[in-house]
Amino acid sequence: MKFFADTAELDDIKELAATGLLDGVTTNPSLIAKSGRDFMEVTKEICDIVDGPVSAEVVALDHETMMKEAEVLRKIADNVCIKVPLTIDGLKTCKSLTSDGTMVNVTLCFSANQALLAAKAGASFISPFVGRHDDNGFNGMELIEDIRLVYDNYEYGTEILVASVRHVIHVLESAKIGADVMTAPPKVIQQLFNHTLTDKGIEGFLKDWKSTGQSILA
Ligand code: E4P
Repeated sequence: MKFFADTAELDDIKELAATGLLDGVTTNPSLIAKSGRDFMEVTKEICDIVDGPVSAEVVALDHETMMKEAEVLRKIADNVCIKVPLTIDGLKTCKSLTSDGTMVNVTLCFSANQALLAAKAGASFISPFVGRHDDNGFNGMELIEDIRLVYDNYEYGTEILVASVRHVIHVLESAKIGADVMTAPPKVIQQLFNHTLTDKGIEGFLKDWKSTGQSILA
């Protein structure tokens, strides 16, 4: 499963990229606002750090203006992936952009039927929001299972990008279901590395090693 960071914070992206485990980045208008940075500038800087897809979202609601915005955004770098909302105009834009080879991430997906439409529109990625689904009394992971089933039934190439990930269990469940990608806040990705028994184990090994008086590098 690919790991994308859901953030526009450059320091966090650099830190995760240094692990060699970061496959891409997703941003949205709220994350750009939170960063306090200029959209074009920060997107360019993210694209310079990460080789994989970097999602940059259009803000227009009509197809024609979405296409104009996408035109500007895709000039930022080759790895920009245009993010469009799951609306009729968003899917029309998806179809037009993917027909000429542009990567498109269809966002704000909350049903398997919507995911089916995105696949038919040729989306590179579909972003079902599991956290927001859970927040509203639905089961986010069931949504991922349904989309996996539908996509496998027809061998759609659209990658399932689990979004709105809130905790490490969302990550594990996504991997068990066979999602292609998950995007999570840096804090959640960092938590994946941690286990109290790993820390305890290291502590014990080092204590015993010290008692031997040996050194590997000496
Ligand atoms: C995905 O691309 C979105 O940016 C993101 O995952 C939304 O997450 P949120 O529900 O925590 O805002």
